Amino acid sequence: MVSFYDQLIEGIDGYILVEDAEEELCELYSVYYSKDSNDRLDLVEPRKPEVDIEIEGGKRPISLTISQNININGEPGQTGAVLWNSSIVMGEFFARSTPHWDLSALTALELGSGCGLVGLTLHRLGMQRTILTDQLRMMRLLTKNMDANRLKSSSLEMFATEYVWGQMPEDQRIVRQSIDMVVASDCVYHESVAPMLVHTLVDVCKCVGMVGQELRSDLVHQVFLAELLKHFVVYRVPVSPKIDGFYALYAIWLK
Ligand SMILES: C[S@@+](CC[C@H](N)C(=O)[O-])C[C@H]1O[C@@H](n2cnc3c(N)ncnc32)[C@H](O)[C@@H]1O
Repeated sequence: MVSFYDQLIEGIDGYILVEDAEEELCELYSVYYSKDSNDRLDLVEPRKPEVDIEIEGGKRPISLTISQNININGEPGQTGAVLWNSSIVMGEFFARSTPHWDLSALTALELGSGCGLVGLTLHRLGMQRTILTDQLRMMRLLTKNMDANRLKSSSLEMFATEYVWGQMPEDQRIVRQSIDMVVASDCVYHESVAPMLVHTLVDVCKCVGMVGQELRSDLVHQVFLAELLKHFVVYRVPVSPKIDGFYALYAIWLK
């Protein structure tokens, strides 16, 4: 089995090493301000209870039906109840990359899955074992989406379970699994969240992490990057000229 790290490192020439949070912010925001804000992606429909999403970029589109819970949208701590653009950006990145990767013997753990789109995409791309995690109150929605989008008659495993950042996971399956890839989409929406998420990434990411963020606040992004750089080697992975500047995707591994 070729580790995910070895597969990812094949493309490292195209990635940008990030060594300083402030410098990275300058680079990102010089692209950001050169763009027309009307070009910002608007892929999600937060008001709909159910959305059909096509993840493009792979050999064929992946069709997912995602339930959202609009009644709890907007309440503190309920941000995962609707899809975020960043998850579609990440899903399409994985769809584009998978022809070069073999996921068939790997395990992925998603943090802050929300509606679960990134993990569901990895499952549909052939990830051997996919673990979707979030806070307890998100489990019903996450499980519904998992059941609706699971590949039928396949030996690929997928389960959803509670994992609260900064706490030991209660589910021993997380502790016992050897995890090859940790993914997190748009999990830092306020600077206060960054240390807790990074603490959890340090605990669980003995492998490679793929972290995607929509750029909304320079402060939030800088705090998150500075926190990541304390512990991780960080490479920015260019996604596409249309998207770079609005979103940033990083590959990380422990120093
Ligand atoms: C902005 S949403 C992103 C959801 C999804 N990843 C996406 O991109 O559509 C942030 C997610 O982080 C989860 N989250 C926030 N704080 C958390 C914590 N302390 N432990 C675990 N999950 C948390 C929320 O429940 C929510 O699902």
